Amino acid sequence: MTEQVSPVKGVHGVVGLPGDKSISHRYAMLTSIADGDSEIHNYSTGADCRSTLCCMQALGVSHTFSEIDGRRVLKVHGKGISGLTVAAGTLDAGNSGSTIRMLSGILAAQHFTTVVTGDDSLVKRPMRRIMTPLAEMGARIEATDGQFPPLTIHGSRLYGIDYSLPVASAQVKSSVLLAGLYASGETIVREPIATRDHTEIALRELGADIVIEPRVARVRGGAKLQGKMLVVPGDISSAAFFIVAALVTRDSDLIITNVGLNPTRTALLDVLCGMGANIKLLRIEQVNGELIGNLQIKSSVVKGGTIEGATTAALIDEIPVLAILGALSQNGLIVRDAAELRVKETDRIETISANLQRMGGTLTTTQSTLEIPGKQQLHAAEIQSFGDHRIAMAFSIGALTASGTCEIREAEAASVSYPEFYTTLRNIAR
Ligand code: S3P
Repeated sequence: MTEQVSPVKGVHGVVGLPGDKSISHRYAMLTSIADGDSEIHNYSTGADCRSTLCCMQALGVSHTFSEIDGRRVLKVHGKGISGLTVAAGTLDAGNSGSTIRMLSGILAAQHFTTVVTGDDSLVKRPMRRIMTPLAEMGARIEATDGQFPPLTIHGSRLYGIDYSLPVASAQVKSSVLLAGLYASGETIVREPIATRDHTEIALRELGADIVIEPRVARVRGGAKLQGKMLVVPGDISSAAFFIVAALVTRDSDLIITNVGLNPTRTALLDVLCGMGANIKLLRIEQVNGELIGNLQIKSSVVKGGTIEGATTAALIDEIPVLAILGALSQNGLIVRDAAELRVKETDRIETISANLQRMGGTLTTTQSTLEIPGKQQLHAAEIQSFGDHRIAMAFSIGALTASGTCEIREAEAASVSYPEFYTTLRNIAR
């Protein structure tokens, strides 16, 4: 599907967001292995989170969607910590790295064997990062060429380990912690820099035996989880597209409601405010251990700057749209320590570079850096999403400032995390 996106003067109005993708995955997996029913409000509408629900269903956990006061509510009928049953066929994680990596931690501890695979992109993504710690815990996992899906996971008896993550990755941390729920003794995960901590928070909410310290989480195996009512905050990584849209267009005033503001996810706001962005926090509250609030964003002169080290890791999903912001900023943007971008849904250093150049933009890249000069005028062009949701959406935001209408090819990729993206964009564009 091709979407046409034309230049605008600004974006105006109030935007509500689909539920956070990361939190939705975790709630679906954890409520499946909890006792009793859970009601999940604002579950992500994205295809990735549907993949997780389908996998859980194949493992014997049923769910239903219903409408309560006009809002979509997901009910998960939890089977308890030992209640999963063998799947009839291969599980399909679709495009979702979070699904395959986190679920592997649970599957490694079952009393049956499961095969998990995914789409053309997922079967090229590295899995050794989870296979290594899970094997240390006693898991037996086979993979294509020793590292790519399909993964054949032979459920085994697991033992707690003390694991230091070599690469900062919340998916890997979560995979080990989920395996730790089933392991004998204590499982400790240490991270070099703090990554998103939604798994730890959700585990605590559902009654796991977990201790959370800065950059260290300890979980004890054997505890039962208890289902409950959960509310998923709006996805700040989806909000990022509209935040940048409001900043880089001339006449914008946008309010984003009920967005997740977990401090491990808000580096984007800190970095943007440091560059001169006019972003106001209007309200904040805590729900299920997660912060949620409203933001107001107005057109701003954004200076640009350098993003590196822990900051790059903390806003890795937002780099595609920050690349657009960088090109439109006063002084440009340098992103360092970004090698992880090369193993996302696409090689995002390549796909950012290809599309920016199609729009007449310039940049230089290395294996782990992007250097994007500022004050660029982007031109009307044919953009290719390369099947990557964040590339489709980031360059659609770039198109709002282009010299003419852009065509976004394979724009349906946005549905992986944000099926309503183009409808919302049309509603707020002026
Ligand atoms: C995610 C962690 C990040 C992020 C991904 C979602 C998660 O990946 O890029 O979109 O939900 O834990 P890594 O763990 O590979 O850094």
